[in-house]
Order: sequence, then C-alpha cells, then structure tokens
Amino acid sequence: MKRKVAWAGAGLVVYAGAAWGVYQYLRPSGSECASTTCATTNGVPEGVWEGLAGGYDAAVDRDERVTGVLKRRAALLSSHARGHVLEIACGTGRNLLLYPMTPEVVRVTATDASPAMLDVARTKLLEQDGKARILLLEHGRPERHAWLAKYIDRRAPRHAHKWGCWWNRDISKLAEEAGLVVHEKTTYHLGTGYIIIASPPPQ
Ligand SMILES: C[S@@+](CC[C@H](N)C(=O)[O-])C[C@H]1O[C@@H](n2cnc3c(N)ncnc32)[C@H](O)[C@@H]1O
Repeated sequence: MKRKVAWAGAGLVVYAGAAWGVYQYLRPSGSECASTTCATTNGVPEGVWEGLAGGYDAAVDRDERVTGVLKRRAALLSSHARGHVLEIACGTGRNLLLYPMTPEVVRVTATDASPAMLDVARTKLLEQDGKARILLLEHGRPERHAWLAKYIDRRAPRHAHKWGCWWNRDISKLAEEAGLVVHEKTTYHLGTGYIIIASPPPQ
C-alpha cells in the first residue's frame, strides 16, 4: 500500500512539473500584453518595432547569414527587381543595399509603419554617401605631348561643330574645380582619353 502511495505521489510531482514547464513555455513574456489590455496592430503590441529597431540588425544578421536568407534576398532582388520599386515594410532597410546598381532599377521607394525602423534604414543609406563614386571616361586635352595638344586645340572648333563636343577640355582642372576627390586617374591614347574614379565633393 505504502508503495502505491509513493508511486502516486511521484506521478503527481512529475505531472505538476510538466504542467508548470508547459505553462512557462507558452505564457506571454513580461514585455508582452494581452490584446484586450494594450493597443495592438495586427496582433502585435504597439511599440514592439520601435523597441526592436536599434538592435534589430545585430539580432537577426547572423541567423540570416547562416540560414542563407541574406543570399536569397540578394538573388531575388538582382533577378527580379526592375523599374520603380515599392518596398513595403522595409524595416531597417536590410534589402536596400542589395538592389542591383543597374539602370534597370530606376528608383526604390521604401516604406514602413515604424519611424524608428525607418531611422535605422535612413542612417544606413546616409552612411553610403561617403562611398558614392563618380566614374568618368572622357576625351580631353593631353597633359603631355605638347604637339598633340596643339593639334587638338587647333581642330577643336571644327570637332565641336561636327560632333557637338569640345575634345580639348582640361579634364583634371574640371574635376578639381568641381571639388571631386580623385582616387584614380589614368589616361590612354597618348593622354587624350581619361578614366577618373572620384568621390563627390565632401559636404
Ligand atoms: C520583421 S520586420 C521585416 C523588415 C524587412 N522587411 C526585412 O526583411 O528586414 C517587419 C516590419 O514590418 C513593419 N510593419 C508591420 N506592419 C506594418 C504595416 N501595416 N505597414 C507597414 N509596415 C509594417 C514593422 O514596422 C517592421 O519594420
């Protein structure tokens, strides 16, 4: 008899422990609230995204890399994003730097219900400003070979009349006057062709 009581007691303890564990697992955490006692949007308590915005990227970035989501985002956008794109619920703008930088993507307009998430997205884009590049491939007056420069100067009006462009511009001076920060400059065709990689003038 004593044994039976002991088994029943043990069973009760196991049952109570399991029930408590399941309750702890399923119950809402402290930061959540029942939909009847706080404002929600689509069942999400108000303020959740505002609270998450600052740490959102750090919280999901590793998961998205490991699970291949980041690669899938990039592949989807590069194969299908075209024209004027409207991205709804862009969050912290995790897609924004993945759109292909080709003429096919004319404009991306991103929206989100959470101002805090949008702030993170905006900051991300502003940080890109310093990385913008101006790429020039131009005709110009050669900086060496005076004989060639003279020839080009002499024929410049005729060339402009026929082709609508002045082929004897001082490309380096123009870049300097425009305030461009030149990172690379190479010339070809005896210095009459210029390739310049520059950044916009610092603000
Ligand atoms: C899980 S995040 C995803 C963000 C982004 N699409 C991404 O892939 O990283 C969900 C986002 O949807 C936004 N959101 C939720 N309901 C919305 C609604 N009705 N209209 C616009 N944005 C909404 C939230 O503010 C949040 O930034």
